[in-house]
Amino acid sequence: MRTRIHRNWTLIHLMTRLLLLNGPNLNLLGTREPQVYGSDTLQTIEQRAADCARESGCTLQCFQSNAEHELVERIQRAGADEVACLIFNPGAFTHTSIALRDAVLAVRIPLIEVHLSNPRAREPFRHQSYFSDIAVGVISGFGAFGYELAVRAAARHASGTPRAG
Ligand code: DQA
Repeated sequence: MRTRIHRNWTLIHLMTRLLLLNGPNLNLLGTREPQVYGSDTLQTIEQRAADCARESGCTLQCFQSNAEHELVERIQRAGADEVACLIFNPGAFTHTSIALRDAVLAVRIPLIEVHLSNPRAREPFRHQSYFSDIAVGVISGFGAFGYELAVRAAARHASGTPRAG
């Protein structure tokens, strides 16, 4: 929760804004390689994440795109929208996208990187992430539950609660 002084000197309370971003092919969750990514749809995951955010006193907006430029534009807009924390599963862009990394750095919004699987335990080309070294933290390998963990971590980070490390 943030407070702001309104024109007539009343204090208004603003809910902390979180933004959940999902990259390419995550729109196919539910049917896409369920043995790797589980059987929950993205819609279900987003709904649970939004509930979790509300319980933590935050609002959550969700956006998924298969297009790199749309994700860049959404991140740029988050800067203007005063988003307190980004929760991002960049999908395959994790391993390729300097453009998305630069967008996150440009808006200077804290980032929590999330993955359903544990990419470090998979093929070598998934071991490289363009986001982990600029993230507050990384949550991976817990399936859809990882998004709820990420929302709780984002709410805590946005409230200024200190973390280890
Ligand atoms: C993923 C892992 C990536 O390597 C992969 O390209 C994805 C999903 C995950 O959530 O486990 O699309 O980000």
